[in-house]
Amino acid sequence: MLNVFLCLGLFVSHYTVNTEIIYQGFNSSFVPQWWQPCIIYEVYVRSFKDSNGDGLGDLNGITEKVDYLKNLGVCAVWLSPVFKSPQLDFGYDISNFREIDPIYGTTHDFDRMLEKFHKAGIKVLLDFVPNHTSNMHDWFKKSVKKIDPYTDYFIWKDAKYVDGVRSPPNNWLSVFSGSAWEWSEGRQQYYFHQFLVEQPDLNYRNPKVHEEIKDVMRFWLDRGLDGFRIDAICHVYEKEDFADEPLSGKPGVLPTDYLYLDHPYTMQLPENVGLVKEWDELIYSYKKKESDELKILVLECYAPTKKLMPYYSNDSTCRSTFPFNFNLVEHMDRESDAQDLKTMISTWLINMPEGSWANWVISNHDRDRIASRMESTLLDGIHMIQMMLPGTAITYYGDELGMENSYVRWDQVTDTFALNYGPERFQLVNRDPERSPFPWDDTKNAGFSDASNVWLPIHPNFWADNMKQQSKRKSHLRTYKQLARLRQNPTLIYGDLDMFTLSKWTFGFTRSYKDNPTYVVVVNFGSETETVDLLKFRPTLPAILKVKVSSLNSGLVTGNLVNATSIFLRPKAGLVLITSYSNEV
Ligand code: NOJ
Repeated sequence: MLNVFLCLGLFVSHYTVNTEIIYQGFNSSFVPQWWQPCIIYEVYVRSFKDSNGDGLGDLNGITEKVDYLKNLGVCAVWLSPVFKSPQLDFGYDISNFREIDPIYGTTHDFDRMLEKFHKAGIKVLLDFVPNHTSNMHDWFKKSVKKIDPYTDYFIWKDAKYVDGVRSPPNNWLSVFSGSAWEWSEGRQQYYFHQFLVEQPDLNYRNPKVHEEIKDVMRFWLDRGLDGFRIDAICHVYEKEDFADEPLSGKPGVLPTDYLYLDHPYTMQLPENVGLVKEWDELIYSYKKKESDELKILVLECYAPTKKLMPYYSNDSTCRSTFPFNFNLVEHMDRESDAQDLKTMISTWLINMPEGSWANWVISNHDRDRIASRMESTLLDGIHMIQMMLPGTAITYYGDELGMENSYVRWDQVTDTFALNYGPERFQLVNRDPERSPFPWDDTKNAGFSDASNVWLPIHPNFWADNMKQQSKRKSHLRTYKQLARLRQNPTLIYGDLDMFTLSKWTFGFTRSYKDNPTYVVVVNFGSETETVDLLKFRPTLPAILKVKVSSLNSGLVTGNLVNATSIFLRPKAGLVLITSYSNEV
């Protein structure tokens, strides 16, 4: 059914690059949707909190921590996959989309958790994996046996015979290394898998698959779920002629590595967007009256910014499907200077469709933690940027503490991707280090679990640096909470954005809205001490500014006054300043 609810009272923003103002905000008729000023917090379920002493995090563990998340200031959580699964890719290999895996709890635990989050005013998103299932899924087992309607639910191809030797139908490679084709003795054909052998790809050229997947989505949405994080959306369609992919020519990669080829025929096909539009309609159909809150879809796809823009809902001011913005994950590193930051940020803002809302990701369960990728000293400054820019902020669990990657030895590796690479090369791709358990306190297993062994090593520094400890002092956690609170301020929701390269290494921006006080963010990415003159870049600022939030290493505290012509910044220090001296703002 086409939903005819009209989104009223919105005003479309726009962006200019020719002047200093890079982003013009919204006017006061804009009614922000719940997910816009929001922080979406990724809970990697296995590592958040174990409630039953088996060394793995679970749903009841998360329920215990709702108050922590409420207090942190997040408004939505996204849970890594909790559906029934053999766990070869830790839940991204689903054998039943409608059941909770027993290692995480029961459907009753899920409902209880959802209720508790909702009572706390926090929305819940589940990670949804439409590209593939587990080979243990009933659909796949029946497809192997050609039992209808499942016969064509997956991508099957006959073998190619080269000099009488059976070989895969083409050269396509799996993201997790090796051929993307696996021979099925049962069916006497190859099936296609973009990820593990045990993760066969669904066939979206089959309309029945569309209906199955939408039914699964409805199943959870009808239970009260607020939306989904959609996994691997760039991978759902493949080119129909199954032509070989071209060699990438990249140096230092093995012929079995995914990077050995370019992927024009297996990634980012235009059909992917069409599929997302079907789901966008589906989630929008849940908004039946004005007071119903929108459900959301957040899409995971690593692709150049321009290729991601079509995924935004068509009427992006009042619809709620959007692609993750990974620009800060993919491009920000220890070499980044102020101009690089400005480019990374403006690339998204300039390319976004008119009136759309941005989002900023800095870490996730597939990439090194931000504090390890950059430097933990710089973490407060990076959070200042992420939280004060216009757009939704996405936080990976533990980043609020500045959690760092844990070292994981070869004998401790659990990530199948890394296991595929073997003992010599596993460090290149291992995702275990960023998935280690959350350090709640300095007790056994950092308060994460009572088990004698937990599934991954906890960072050995947990005794000194943990959530409890950080709650008692000036810390990354406190800075994070201060920033989270500011996000409800109208200037940060509606305001313009003006960005500056204050020096080669000092990046800054202002957020201003009508006559409200202006916020100024300054962050020194360099290893040199800097003194910057803000008035050179924005002469209308007052001569004296007040410190609203300061990084741990700044030497300043909230309420200090600073001279706008000579802002002193230690290496990696960051400040949020404000033009008002009142304590009210
Ligand atoms: C992307 C997920 O984030 C990753 O963890 C997973 O292994 C692959 N998709 C396959 O589902």
